[in-house]
Amino acid sequence: MATGKFFQEVEVPQQKSQIQNHLLFPAVLSPAATDSSVCVLEDAIRAEKAWLECLLNERGAILFRGFPVTSPDDFNDVVEAFGYPEAIYVGGRASRTKVVGRVYTANECPPHMGIPFHHEMSYVPDFPTKLVFFCEEEPGKGGETPIVLSHIIYERMKEKHPEFVARLEEHGLTYIKFAGDEDDPSSFTGSSWKSAYKTDDKSVAEERAAKLGTKLEWMGNTAKVITGPVPAIRFDKESGRKTWFNSLSASYSGPASEKGSNRNTTVELGNADPIPDDAMEDLMKILEEECVAIPWKKGDVLLVNNLMVLHSRRPLLKPPRRVLASLCK
Ligand code: FE2
Repeated sequence: MATGKFFQEVEVPQQKSQIQNHLLFPAVLSPAATDSSVCVLEDAIRAEKAWLECLLNERGAILFRGFPVTSPDDFNDVVEAFGYPEAIYVGGRASRTKVVGRVYTANECPPHMGIPFHHEMSYVPDFPTKLVFFCEEEPGKGGETPIVLSHIIYERMKEKHPEFVARLEEHGLTYIKFAGDEDDPSSFTGSSWKSAYKTDDKSVAEERAAKLGTKLEWMGNTAKVITGPVPAIRFDKESGRKTWFNSLSASYSGPASEKGSNRNTTVELGNADPIPDDAMEDLMKILEEECVAIPWKKGDVLLVNNLMVLHSRRPLLKPPRRVLASLCK
């Protein structure tokens, strides 16, 4: 068990043991002492930054549970204590609202909708390397934020669909999204081009998009947002492993045979070949089999290494739920 001076590692039933090294995913830390306050937590994070960073890179994610983080302001202070620069959400596909400081809603789409697995902003070159989530209001039921180690998904997909994975590595992916000029809160990829590129001016949006390797084609006031081809598999130098670094499952609009998909995104291989439906079906199954979904508790803070770990959201079965997020470089 890893232990810092201020933190003790505890176990929760949903954690999974990694096959190669038997380490639990994610790490779960609780206060080592009983006289805990937000200030004590912030000081502890600053004092144990190197140790926490090692733990994060070893395990992929750390859940801080049992600390008295109660408000968005508290959470903002906790994020600041980690000392990571803020990653600005430009070119993002979700509709999100600022709450305070560098804290935003995680996604404005209806809580009963699930969000498939993805690496945050894996479709732009300047993606965040860390994500911090905070549970302000504990869900009545459901609404977990499942996480999964990305190298495991790569390995299992390579085993099951070697030919597809070889094509994915060769060609990468092209992501396509149709963005209107107003946010669409009914979709988890519902950001308008105006909020994605933080401007009302089409030519400024085009310039900002171009910096992110994205082309905008106009259909009246709707932008066809074309990003790619971008790599779909990433080599993580730190671990020496390849990861499933993409937003494939969150961008795929379903089998062509399935009518009625109202997704505003689609994705294809970088050479414009379609994504095989059978590979996608297996991908969804593997993600579900390998993921860890720990029910949120009020005050939980979850630090995720976005290079190592994919995340998603399960549908909320019983309100309330309020989970906030902050993105870091
Ligand atoms: Fe996300």
